[in-house]
Amino acid sequence: MSRIFVTGGSGRLGRSVVAGLAEAGHEVISVDRDAIPADQLPAGVVQETGDLLAPGEALRLLTQTAPDAVIHLAAIAVPFSAPEDVIFATNTRLAYAVISAATELGIGKIVTASSPTVLGYGCPAGWLPDSFPLDERSVPKPWNAYALSKLIAEQTVQMFAAAQGEKIRYAAFRPCYVISPEEWDGAPTQQGHTLAERLADPALSAPALFNYVDARDVADFLDVLLQKMDTIPNGETFFVGAADALATAPLAELMPRFLPGSEALAAGLTGTSPAFSIAKARDLLGWEPKRSWRTELKTETTLNDETSASLVTAGAGSKETS
Ligand SMILES: NC(=O)c1ccc[n+]([C@@H]2O[C@H](COP(=O)([O-])OP(=O)(O)OC[C@H]3O[C@@H](n4cnc5c(N)ncnc54)[C@H](O)[C@@H]3O)[C@@H](O)[C@H]2O)c1
Repeated sequence: MSRIFVTGGSGRLGRSVVAGLAEAGHEVISVDRDAIPADQLPAGVVQETGDLLAPGEALRLLTQTAPDAVIHLAAIAVPFSAPEDVIFATNTRLAYAVISAATELGIGKIVTASSPTVLGYGCPAGWLPDSFPLDERSVPKPWNAYALSKLIAEQTVQMFAAAQGEKIRYAAFRPCYVISPEEWDGAPTQQGHTLAERLADPALSAPALFNYVDARDVADFLDVLLQKMDTIPNGETFFVGAADALATAPLAELMPRFLPGSEALAAGLTGTSPAFSIAKARDLLGWEPKRSWRTELKTETTLNDETSASLVTAGAGSKETS
């Protein structure tokens, strides 16, 4: 059991991370500007509210709570949801404030959230990868302040890892489009549509290249990562996604419709294969996502007949993954 300090613990991803780590037996300190309502706070979770950008606040809260590990999630999490300079300054300063304070206190394990958007898909000037599936070797080409701020968060952990050697363990992870448990029941996803709508209309999932991950699988990933961080190279970055794509048809068919020029590149994305590989997390950590839209989505109330039929057909092949 560890004592884990989670920033952004009241957020879409943070709530599941806090709950999952507490359920796994850890002592969890959830830190956020906004409080989790008392009746929704998982048993045993300690909650602290504060603005982590206020001078000295990260150091004060970390000193007061004395954790063994820090998971930094707090950020402006949606591209273009604030002016570009505000997103850039907020996310880079938050990452630096939390990671530097944790380093100063000698906290043994420090993890920060990045994003798959660092790769640069959706760029209005055009974007094509060198190959699919995308993985941690794919070259980042951020084109907006959010993606750039996340790449800098990764580089912040790498900078501290370089300076600290093996004294402190650092890692970054890129969660795919996060689906929290209530969203399987019809609550709106981060971009406002329901899961059923995203599946019924591929144009809605295409901007994120059909990626997604269940927030509880991210919590499991972080639990495994913290257990294994002592045994893997320092400062690593991991994609954390579902084992399949958020689509009812193979991406080899869908991708060229939304990403012009990707016919040959996407030809290998057959069956239910996602565009993002999670092979590194599987190989280095032994982590495996347990949830898929095929196992979690409550289809009966939300899908029209045509989509239900295609979901049933797609679900029949759900074991066929990348
Ligand atoms: N949701 C996704 O699909 C997704 C995908 C990739 C990466 N991420 C990353 O994962 C992390 C969590 O995302 P999320 O969807 O839960 O976002 P969210 O907006 O739901 O949660 C972020 C939390 O950070 C808190 N916060 C922001 N500024 C703060 C400050 N100055 N002090 C204290 N708390 C502050 C907010 O109050 C909020 O509760 C973010 O770093 C995000 O960039 C999310």
